[in-house]
Amino acid sequence: METTLIILKPDAVQRGLMGRIITRFEDKGLQVVGCKMMRISPDLAARHYEAHKEKGFYAGLVRFMTSSPVLVLALRGAGAITIARNMMGATFGSKANPGTIRGDFGVSNSFNLIHGSDSAEAAERELGLFFAKGEVLEWPRAVESWVYDTSGGKIE
Ligand code: RTP
Ligand code: MG
Repeated sequence: METTLIILKPDAVQRGLMGRIITRFEDKGLQVVGCKMMRISPDLAARHYEAHKEKGFYAGLVRFMTSSPVLVLALRGAGAITIARNMMGATFGSKANPGTIRGDFGVSNSFNLIHGSDSAEAAERELGLFFAKGEVLEWPRAVESWVYDTSGGKIE
């Protein structure tokens, strides 16, 4: 089981897309184990996107991410990191395939609606940046045994 960090970016919140995006993840079978609306501080944006510090788009990216509230989610599931990234689609809205979140809801290459951790290491780091201890809940899901086949003793 993995937990990934998702951010519904300022454009997703402003455009009223939170519910529809969360519904996609819930429909898929990923479990919401953390959820928080917040305004990202410049310091937090800098720490989150520190890998992009030298890029030309960095200043605009930090300005965008701090411009308006975001909704931060922790999503749990087997292979959740890759599943969420595939559901998000390619970085640029103009290139993202139909059927993906970025492909279906946006055209912009900057306002691309959603962030998702891109590796297990990134997920651990980012969950620690956005959620305090105790804010990610491992709640037992009643439908779990119908979401996954556990009859063989493992998650299939
Ligand atoms: P994210 O980190 O937000 O999930 O997006 P990503 O992995 O698909 O893309 P990444 O390469 O990590 O870039 C982070 C965010 O920076 C903006 N960006 N702008 N103008 C550009 O060339 C450019 N490239 C990236 C996007 O908002 C992207 O999500
Ligand atoms: Mg990235």
